[in-house]
Amino acid sequence: MSKLVIMDHPMIKHKLTILRNKNTSTQEFRTVTNEISMLMTYEMTRDLPLEEVEIETPLVKTTQEQIAGKKMAIIPILRAGLGMVDGILTMVPAARVGHIGLYRDEETLEPVEYFSKLPTDIEERRVFVVDPMLATGGSAIEAINSLVETHKVPSENIKFVCLVAAPEGVKKFQEAHPDVAVYVAAMDEKLDENGYIIPGLGDAGDRIFGTE
Ligand code: PRP
Ligand code: URA
Repeated sequence: MSKLVIMDHPMIKHKLTILRNKNTSTQEFRTVTNEISMLMTYEMTRDLPLEEVEIETPLVKTTQEQIAGKKMAIIPILRAGLGMVDGILTMVPAARVGHIGLYRDEETLEPVEYFSKLPTDIEERRVFVVDPMLATGGSAIEAINSLVETHKVPSENIKFVCLVAAPEGVKKFQEAHPDVAVYVAAMDEKLDENGYIIPGLGDAGDRIFGTE
């Protein structure tokens, strides 16, 4: 079973309540989505390797630490994943950004890929796939399938990061991709009969882009 990290922090809980509130405006929804994503970056980069580097402070020469190893790529699942990118880039501005376009067929709830554009050296990078919602898990599973099978990214180099998840979807995802760690801001109760997360926050893409 893959690693599952559920954020447990008052700032994130507070900000999620703002997102869940149906009266929150599109502008505020966007801002807060980026803020939570920025806070989650702290946790999802916790295991980055460090290397020693020699520098001079104004007083002495000293050996200190800096982040080493593989470079990063942020891969938002279109559309809603785009809403998380700026917040993450605030913390890791040098990361490359690739895109995978998937929509969930509202009848079958199956994901359909319609776009893919990734950094050419994606298989050498630490990859963070981001999408605010993990509901049935179909979109997340399909995005990782594409990265692993088509683009040859080792699954242990990938992390999946979302804001709100349903237990059913997380279970399905972990079974499909046992090597891919999952970071969620909140684990909600269940899916409804239309595959929406309860209590959730509604359709994340529509709320970020104001297309309701
Ligand atoms: C939403 C969401 C996820 C997917 C989650 O996207 O952003 O990608 O649904 O559902 P799943 O776990 O059941 O696959 P949607 O298909 O609504 O597309 P959008 O981002 O363009 O709004
Ligand atoms: N996609 C969303 O945007 N919201 C849900 O609750 C489920 C899937």
